[in-house]
Amino acid sequence: MIKHDQVEKNVGLLFVLTLFVVLWGGLLEIVPLFFQKSTTTPVDGLKPYDAVRLAGREVYLREGCYNCHSQMIRPFRAETERYGHYSVAGEFVYDHPFQWGSKRTGPDLQRVGGRYSDEWQRAHLINPRDVVPESNMPAFAFLANTKAKNSVGADIEAKMQVMRTYANLRGIPTYSDQEIKAAKAAIGDKTEMDVLIAYLQEMGTALKNTK
Ligand code: HEC
Repeated sequence: MIKHDQVEKNVGLLFVLTLFVVLWGGLLEIVPLFFQKSTTTPVDGLKPYDAVRLAGREVYLREGCYNCHSQMIRPFRAETERYGHYSVAGEFVYDHPFQWGSKRTGPDLQRVGGRYSDEWQRAHLINPRDVVPESNMPAFAFLANTKAKNSVGADIEAKMQVMRTYANLRGIPTYSDQEIKAAKAAIGDKTEMDVLIAYLQEMGTALKNTK
């Protein structure tokens, strides 16, 4: 039988036992999540990102919007009153990788879909100070200069194939071959700003709509 003072005096033993406790605790917390239906099934009304929104999401990643914005509303009153329904795992089954984050220089964006008009979003991205005078968000006016098909949308079919592989692995609804074939046409002449706004406008709406 190991005594407490033996553990405290033996660094090697302390290390091994600490590692064991942390690993065991971690396993107990994490492993059950893989088998819980609520974490692996999409919430009602959630659809895979269509070609335009998938390209928009790519702009979001490339521009590092996640450095200032989280997509994770915690289940606290102060958060739900400000942003809306707290985030649930089933909303993120099509997110690879997740954009949860914890850094909030700006507000959480998970329920921003539909909160403002497309025109507001455009004005805000061109120069945030035009609509929110005290804003310190950088301007992203240049996103209107590049057609999505020449950048984030150039390999959209391949991206959708990858998303489909992930969805198939988890047995959740995904794209048809026709949708993948139609991807380039759906993006058409839209600019990077257009596809980013499309992404923002649908964000978090599956749950908000059912409230
Ligand atoms: C340096 C930090 C920073 C970066 C990077 C940033 N933002 Fe912001 N964002 C802010 C701040 C601060 C606000 C709050 C003031 C405002 O509305 O402009 C904000 C507000 C917003 C809002 C309005 C949210 C609301 O509920 O009113 C949207 C939408 C938004 N940002 C989208 C984006 C997108 C998309 C990107 C990437 C292209 C981005 N932001 C990058 C700091 C940032």
